[in-house]
This record gives sequence, C-alpha cells and structure tokens, in this order.
Amino acid sequence: MRFENKILFVTGGASGIGRATAARVVAEGGVAAIVDLDLAKAQAVAAELPGCIGLSANVADEAQVKAAVDATVAKLGGIDLVLACAGHAEFDLISEWDSARFNRLMEVHVGGTFLTAKYTNPIMQSRGAGSLVTIASTASIVAQRLNVPYGAAKAAITGFTRQFALEAAPAVRVNCVAPGRTLTGMTEPLMLARGGTLEKGAEMFGANIPLKRVAQAEELAAAVCFLLSDDASFMTGATLVVDGGETIQ
Ligand SMILES: NC(=O)c1ccc[n+]([C@@H]2O[C@H](COP(=O)([O-])OP(=O)(O)OC[C@H]3O[C@@H](n4cnc5c(N)ncnc54)[C@H](O)[C@@H]3O)[C@@H](O)[C@H]2O)c1
Repeated sequence: MRFENKILFVTGGASGIGRATAARVVAEGGVAAIVDLDLAKAQAVAAELPGCIGLSANVADEAQVKAAVDATVAKLGGIDLVLACAGHAEFDLISEWDSARFNRLMEVHVGGTFLTAKYTNPIMQSRGAGSLVTIASTASIVAQRLNVPYGAAKAAITGFTRQFALEAAPAVRVNCVAPGRTLTGMTEPLMLARGGTLEKGAEMFGANIPLKRVAQAEELAAAVCFLLSDDASFMTGATLVVDGGETIQ
C-alpha cells in the first residue's frame, strides 16, 4: 500500500502504460485523475477504478492542461504523483516530414511533458512533497529506422527530466522511464500489421530482445510506480531503462 491517500495525475491515462500505472496506484491505496485526449475512454477507465475521475485534455494545449490540473485539485483535493505519459508514434523517412508535422510531434511529447510539469509542480511544492515521472523510449538511446523525430523528442524528454529535477528539488523528485517494446494501444496495430496476428507480431517484435518477448504495460507500470513511490526516495533526475535488455547489445 505504497500510495495510501496519494493522488495521481496521469496524462495518456486512458490506455497502455498510463492506464496500467493508474490501476497499480489505486490497487496500492491511491486515487487518480485519468487525463486523455479521449474523454469517453478516460471516463470509462476512471469508472473501473474506485475514487478516480476522467478528464479530457490535449497535453499540447496550455489552457487545457491548466484546466485539467485545476479540475483535479478541485475534485480530488490536490496532486502528489504525476505521470506524463501521453504520446503517439509516427514512423517515416525524414524527407516525408515537414516542419508543421515535426512541431506537432514535439508539442505533444516535449511540450506536453513541459506543460504537465509546469502546472503540477506548484501543487506538489505547496504540499511539501511529490514525485513526477516522464516517459522517454529506447529511441532516446539507440537509433531506430524511420524514427528520427520521435527519437529526438524522447531524447529531449530525458534532458528535460534532468534539468527539471534540479529546479523541483528538494521537495519534488523528477525521474524518467525509457520503455522498450511494450504491448499497448500504440503498438498493437504495428504488431498486428507485422505478424498477421497479434501473437505472431508480438513474437516478431520480441525476437531480438534478450528476454525474447515484448513487455506488458503492467511491467512498465511497476517501474513507474517504483519511481513514484518512497522506494525511490533518493532518486531524482534519473532515467530508468526498462527494455528486456534490448539496448545492452
Ligand atoms: N508501447 C511502447 O512500445 C512504447 C515504447 C516506448 C515509449 N512509449 C511511450 O509510452 C507512452 C505511453 O504510450 P502507450 O504505449 O501506453 O500508448 P497508448 O496508445 O496505449 O496510450 C497513449 C495514450 O495517450 C493518449 N494521447 C495521445 N496523444 C495525446 C495528447 N496530445 N493529449 C492527451 N492524451 C494523448 C492516447 O489517447 C492514449 O490513450 C508514450 O509517451 C509512448 O511514446 C511506448
């Protein structure tokens, strides 16, 4: 029960890693504001988790992020834990990207992380304690085909995390998780397209990983919850790679 009476603000909480983290926080005594572009899905996830609320916000939009933070404080009474998880993947040759498309991807991943940190940090500072986790990717560490803008955005998130950890200390800890290949709403269509069936596609995606499989969202949530919790009480500014060993090769 590491999260008894704790309030989580999670962006991208309607699916995948964000949803699994909210479920784990609630299982360990907390409540969550599930914030997502998709309000219906956010509310459906919240309805399954006692004490939780579903809110809509595009993390790239400053007024919407501020409104979601304000609504969380008004309805749940504060914010102690934050997961900036909202995001999407887009694969293409760099020649196929124009600056508007590139900026949109940056605005969601890097801008969304910035806005989430900007508006949740003062709430945690005023409570004297807090823990914020950002989400990068193995694409921030190693090169991947057709993944230049996404990899650049995720590398920027690890840089943001390190810099912001200094600004938010000592009351608030700021850390990052860099997931490897994980079965979620983002990757299911890719695995299905590659393998014909989800099972075959997941097997193909896991073939070059030392642990010989992709991750389940709950395995990423376990790492996020470690960093959110007092188990990580002396960690700040760190990036934890959770990739089945993919990037050690
Ligand atoms: N699944 C993987 O293999 C993998 C690997 C590395 C990193 N990641 C990162 O993990 C994070 C979570 O992804 P996931 O795999 O759980 O995917 P997912 O698609 O299951 O969940 C992402 C959620 O974010 C929401 N979202 C997208 N854009 C948004 C926006 N602008 N504002 C608010 N909500 C928005 C979506 O509606 C969705 O519910 C992302 O940042 C992703 O880049 C995933």
